[in-house]
Amino acid sequence: MYFTAPRIDENPPAANALRADPAFRADVLQGLAQPRKAIPARWFYDMRGSQLFEAITQVPEYYPTRTETALLKAHSGEVAERVGADATVVEFGSGSSIKTRILLGAMPRATYVPIDICGEFLEEACTALQRLFPALRIMPVEANFMNPVQLPLRPDEAPRAMLGFFPGSTIGNLTPEAAVDLLRSMRETLGESAHLLIGIDRVKEPRRLVSAYDDAQGVTALFNLNLLQRINRELGGSIPVGEFRHVARWNPTASRIEMHLEARRAIRFEVDGHAFRMEGGETIHTENCHKYRPGEMRLLLAAGGWRELEHWTDPQGDFSLILAQADGAQREP
Ligand code: AVJ
Repeated sequence: MYFTAPRIDENPPAANALRADPAFRADVLQGLAQPRKAIPARWFYDMRGSQLFEAITQVPEYYPTRTETALLKAHSGEVAERVGADATVVEFGSGSSIKTRILLGAMPRATYVPIDICGEFLEEACTALQRLFPALRIMPVEANFMNPVQLPLRPDEAPRAMLGFFPGSTIGNLTPEAAVDLLRSMRETLGESAHLLIGIDRVKEPRRLVSAYDDAQGVTALFNLNLLQRINRELGGSIPVGEFRHVARWNPTASRIEMHLEARRAIRFEVDGHAFRMEGGETIHTENCHKYRPGEMRLLLAAGGWRELEHWTDPQGDFSLILAQADGAQREP
């Protein structure tokens, strides 16, 4: 396992702003300048945001993680059988890699390529995983998986079966159009006969959906508000974080949960020398979590170039785990 990750530094914000990720700076400044303010959800995941997301997965209202974990426990053996126990597993947005342990437990000779936007969190996750699987070859990639990813595989080696792993309904962060584009680029990255194991959250009663994104302990609120703290830390912002309130709402037309940060009253602040103002009640849109019906999932995958092979769900039908194969690939005998 090899790794180069930037260290979080303790310098004052102005000095930090000079070295802040230019893509973060551009997304924030552009997003706040729009008439409807919005910042892409990937910027949630600094070290603290990645840790807060792990805490979300433990709150009672957030059903996706434990539901998908049970599905993985039940079906990883079948996945390994179909794909081959020595496949290369490429995970898009690997986070803690905790769910991946279940899959890799069924694939003892796999190579693991975790891709994550937070280098420091990725490094910790890989260290923990290597301890559990000493013989596993881990080749981490610190990257935004929305950009084309160069896989760190050795060209001199015989090509192995490829398995894309995209759990957690992370695909729900994208609009359906962007999701199709991503599925197509994954097919490109993974190659002709690749498989994809993907977790997608299902449409259900809005009450349950909203409470999954607005838990009683307020962990999701901290996760959402941490984005403002990150802007203050890394971009020299003066956002009055206490003047914002976490909002999660169901948008039935777009079939998605939306997370917003709502200003409690009229405020002014600066980010990296740029002045912004917000009215009371105005929001910054921070995340979409699209939910799908089983038939829509099949269509989405097909539009992205993937044919559904297996579609597993829990007894309540809350969450889907789907094994798909690159369309046009040979059917297995
Ligand atoms: C990591 C994108 C799958 O959409 O459920 C959880 C992120 N945001 N609670 C999700 C999230 C608020 C999560 N994903």
